[in-house]
Amino acid sequence: MEKAFIFGVSVSGENFTDRIEETKRIRMNFENGLNTILISPRRIGKTSLVNKVCDSLAKKQENIHTVRMDIYDCRNEYDFYNKFAATILKSTSTKIEQVAETAREFLGRIVPKISISPDPSTEYSISLGIRPKDISPEEILSLPEKIAEKKNMHIVICIDEFQQIGDFPDSVSVQKRLRGVWQHQHHTSYCLYGSKKHMMEKLFQNKRMPFYMFGDTMYLKNIQTEDWIPFICNRFGTKGKKISESLAAEICRTVENHSSYVQQLAWNVMIETEREATAQNLKDAVQKLVAQCSPLFIQQTESLSSYQMNFLKAICSGIHSGFSRQSIMENYNLGSKSNISRLTKSLIDKELIDKTKDGIFLTDPVFRLWIQSEYPL
Ligand SMILES: Nc1ncnc2c1ncn2[C@@H]1O[C@H](COP(=O)(O)OP(=O)(O)OP(=O)(O)O)[C@@H](O)[C@H]1O
Ligand SMILES: [Mg+2]
Repeated sequence: MEKAFIFGVSVSGENFTDRIEETKRIRMNFENGLNTILISPRRIGKTSLVNKVCDSLAKKQENIHTVRMDIYDCRNEYDFYNKFAATILKSTSTKIEQVAETAREFLGRIVPKISISPDPSTEYSISLGIRPKDISPEEILSLPEKIAEKKNMHIVICIDEFQQIGDFPDSVSVQKRLRGVWQHQHHTSYCLYGSKKHMMEKLFQNKRMPFYMFGDTMYLKNIQTEDWIPFICNRFGTKGKKISESLAAEICRTVENHSSYVQQLAWNVMIETEREATAQNLKDAVQKLVAQCSPLFIQQTESLSSYQMNFLKAICSGIHSGFSRQSIMENYNLGSKSNISRLTKSLIDKELIDKTKDGIFLTDPVFRLWIQSEYPL
């Protein structure tokens, strides 16, 4: 059944809207062998966007092969190498037999274990079990370049949740190793993205870090209201319902155009709507959205100190700068002046707030609505 709105998972086809400029730019980077770094807050659409570019390139059947992997479950360097090599082997082989052949050719002693699922519709999986004494990191990291050279193609490796690297033991050495090998490759380029904005910025924006200036760094912006309006109205139409353009715009405004929440709130409104959506439908839908998210927010705030909570409340009441002014510190009970920078840093590290050129804001618009309803002024 066709779904009117999708949220929480990556989207494609009819459920993907806009991003024309970004799609073009990433595609150009891929076609020209430039590395791409994609940074945005959570659930804005990084994964969906990269998937879209990869799918469109696959359709064009150019001499570019994209490989996608998600390293959210990698806890250390060798977890990463295993996933890296296994994904590349599998993705560049058209037949199972080729996996073993390519491994023999480029990974020496490593023999892949291939498990074939009993269900014929699902694919096979590969595990390599590489340990530090088996093969050098440099050899593993050269795998895509060797395959690309041999097959006379360009390979683009897309690594999702790349910020995990920042949590590896001895992380900076690992980053140096990766960059050291990758920057000399001519037939392979990389697209690195991840859901923790602050961590990604630490890896790529800090001059002292190995990945500084590694490629074209793109900050993925929110989808604009004028692009959302036709999308929302159209999706209502597919289910025989109606929503006015102004109410669709109100959905966007309520969740600050945050991609996933726009779709979730639009879905909530659609459930409330009999035939044509009303302002009351939206009001009820917002309440339900806040209720749906509240278990997560309770969990996120449980471990916060009262100063941290007070800081969040100050932001929610419209204060975005000048926190160390006497009146603000007293009004919101933020402790001493020196406490302010500690609070800011700790909440940024938790990805709950973000510092922009306009001041400090909550990263999650529904979290803001939740705080406002739990702690009314
Ligand atoms: N181009 C788009 N058009 C419509 N909706 C979108 C688009 N991109 C993202 N979304 C919405 O945002 C949700 C999250 O998308 P996606 O998983 O691609 O984001 P992400 O930035 O990779 O998230 P995370 O930070 O969790 O990794 C989707 O389920 C969908 O509701
Ligand atoms: Mg993602």
